[in-house]
Amino acid sequence: MGKTLAYKILENHLVEGNLTPGEEITIKIDQTLTQDSTGTMVYLQLEAMDIDKVQTELSVAYIDHNTLQTGFENADDHAFIKSVAQRHGVLFSKPGNGICHQLHLENYGKPGKTLLGSDSHTPTGGGLGMIAIGAGGLDVAVAMAKGTYSLVAPKVIKVELKGKLNPWTSAKDVILYVLQQLSVKGGVGKIVEYTGEGVKSLSVTDRATITNMGAELGATTSVFPSDENTKAYLKSQGREEDYTPLAADPDAVYDQELIVDLDKLTPLAAQPHSPDNVDTVANIGEIKVDQVAIGSCTNSSYTDLMKVAAILKGKKVHPDVSLVISPGSSKILTKMAENGALADIIAAGARIIENACGPCIGMGQSPKSGAVSLRTFNRNFKGRSGTLDADVYLVSPETAAISAITGVLTDGSKTGQPLPEIADTDFEFNDNFIVYPEGTNTENTPVAMGPNIKPFPRNTALPEKVEATVTLHAGDNITTDDIMPSDSRLLPYRSNIPHLANYCFEKIDKDFAGRCKEVGSCAIIGGDNYGQGSSREHAALAPLYLGVKFVVAKSFARIHRSNLINSGIMPLVFENPADYDDFKLGDKLVIENAQEQVKSGVIEIKNETNGKTYRTATNFSDLEIALILKGGKINYMKG
Ligand code: F3S
Repeated sequence: MGKTLAYKILENHLVEGNLTPGEEITIKIDQTLTQDSTGTMVYLQLEAMDIDKVQTELSVAYIDHNTLQTGFENADDHAFIKSVAQRHGVLFSKPGNGICHQLHLENYGKPGKTLLGSDSHTPTGGGLGMIAIGAGGLDVAVAMAKGTYSLVAPKVIKVELKGKLNPWTSAKDVILYVLQQLSVKGGVGKIVEYTGEGVKSLSVTDRATITNMGAELGATTSVFPSDENTKAYLKSQGREEDYTPLAADPDAVYDQELIVDLDKLTPLAAQPHSPDNVDTVANIGEIKVDQVAIGSCTNSSYTDLMKVAAILKGKKVHPDVSLVISPGSSKILTKMAENGALADIIAAGARIIENACGPCIGMGQSPKSGAVSLRTFNRNFKGRSGTLDADVYLVSPETAAISAITGVLTDGSKTGQPLPEIADTDFEFNDNFIVYPEGTNTENTPVAMGPNIKPFPRNTALPEKVEATVTLHAGDNITTDDIMPSDSRLLPYRSNIPHLANYCFEKIDKDFAGRCKEVGSCAIIGGDNYGQGSSREHAALAPLYLGVKFVVAKSFARIHRSNLINSGIMPLVFENPADYDDFKLGDKLVIENAQEQVKSGVIEIKNETNGKTYRTATNFSDLEIALILKGGKINYMKG
């Protein structure tokens, strides 16, 4: 039986376990990446592990999220990360270099390698034929310390691409279509593998747009073959020697299949407030637009921005529209400055902002209240833009640019305006933004602990009896943004859990933190897909700090579930989803014989308030049982 590409790469990296869907496996991790928003915690955890040098082939610490530096806090965090990177042999990418995933694709990603990143859009690397997985920070710290990562072997979905995209329809529309078909839960426990003759019509950066937003499917990762286009991309980046051809066997067997006819696609948009709420731009109609934001790790490549420049050239941004553009990397910005495209964009009336995450993470450029904002980004959860009542639509760069001119959501294919083909270009390798861990005795570099760096909370071993009060009864699809907001007020405090914890769940229930502090030991009741969205482990660490012992939900998103377990918080699943309605705020819950029950796979929770007992499933692997018993991964690592 032929093999999928995903399983070929996993097999090459298998350290332990049986490579069968549903089985726990341990794989070798070749590369890691961190960004600053999750990275401060990763490096605090790495320090706590008392290691010397990282065990990976390459680890890079990028600074791209909190680059505004409106106070000392961000700068403290950057200095801390730089010092720890130096101590342990990690490359440090300075702020101003660009967005982590774009930079990693350009400079370090290699076909056939494994990459673990403390950012949920790490699967961007799948565009180069990597198995690139987003994980919680602690998992990434462990991967740096031990060179391995454990996961449940995923199923593989085949997405067969047929035909070729029409002008004005792009890679973004492909992934929006896949999201429309599979939904934000459709990829959970799965790898999405792209095949078919349509693959060769997509460049590496097109493919990276698709694998990037595979994160919104909830997928473990997404992967494309490595072919002549991959070779051409690596050559353009001056590293052709990193090329290896890779493909699935022709008779590979998949767990699920989806066919996408590229030539039948038309421009699409994800409507508020979910990336899978997709319809055609034509159907949505000409809604008035207030803001257009182009950039992010999804759509800030050279070809994306050159298309935008071509559409804007000689035109004027609509008087009612604010157009902001953030290029993905310093290389792209340099090239566009050299070839005149930057001048074309500015001449049209666009605002150029720093090549960083910026508005994608709510760092500046919040739209006006009640605004319609078109964004080329990957998430449109309520409030993520920094404006709670803004309506954010996710679109392609082409749709964004033409709509910025017309002032209304516009399907470019209906304008009759030709769209020039954009050829890729060659880039100079410029590592002036990289600080290498050079010199002797770098492990003696002092850790730069500014006053904003606070120790992270640690759990204790699981007791025999767990008592907790229900302090939150949450709905379906709770995001990590809902659990631990990450707007410009809070981003400077990513290394300061005691401060952040005060804002835990503030969008859903302002009294949550105060209530937890009052009762001391608490439980959360959740609906379906609890913890979807960003990989931030602060969404587990802040509840840990507030005394959350377990979360009972109808189902969990993958990374958040791992983050809870890594923190020693039990994610429990209702055996009977209807039990969800029985629980009320303030109910007193008890788990007797907790240690034995954790090992058994089923945990009974007694609700002392209504007198009933409820069964929950743990679905814990052997390793997860050990982590829960020890009170989290750091305790487990320390023995
Ligand atoms: Fe940054 Fe947004 Fe991507 S925060 S890493 S540009 S999802």
